Amino acid sequence: MTNPTLDRRLFLAGLGASGVALTTPAFASTKPLVEVLKDPNCGCCGAWIDIMQREDFKMVVQNASWETLSQFKATKGVPDEMTSCHTGLVEGYVIEGHVPPNDIRRLLSERPDAVGLTVPGMPFGSPGMGPESEREAYSVFLIRKDGTTEVFNHYEAA
Ligand code: CU
Ligand code: CU
Repeated sequence: MTNPTLDRRLFLAGLGASGVALTTPAFASTKPLVEVLKDPNCGCCGAWIDIMQREDFKMVVQNASWETLSQFKATKGVPDEMTSCHTGLVEGYVIEGHVPPNDIRRLLSERPDAVGLTVPGMPFGSPGMGPESEREAYSVFLIRKDGTTEVFNHYEAA
């Protein structure tokens, strides 16, 4: 069952927190705002969030049960076989899993007509998933609005 108002309710607290940014200097608000929903017991999500913060994204994080998180992914158009752990929203796009910051910046500058980006599963060596020096090969996929996917970027094994 889908619930179109699910994300609104889930991010109510986050929106309140982001209101604080209005009192900070104007340049601070130019950081892309990423709203993240994650399982409270998932440590790798926190590692990705830290990296994103260092890369100048403004992160608003909310914990949710795995059931709620799964429902959220489905509602937002992430195909089952393309899911990972956490799910983020940035400027109308979905960011699923350990997507590298550079790919998100490219998405936001190219602005394709699409659902967003995903790194399915949790490949070792993707941001927040261990050292890049031991990276396994993985791809970042663009999710189209019809549910199909295509390779957006590919990272070779280190
Ligand atoms: Cu993860
Ligand atoms: Cu995660």
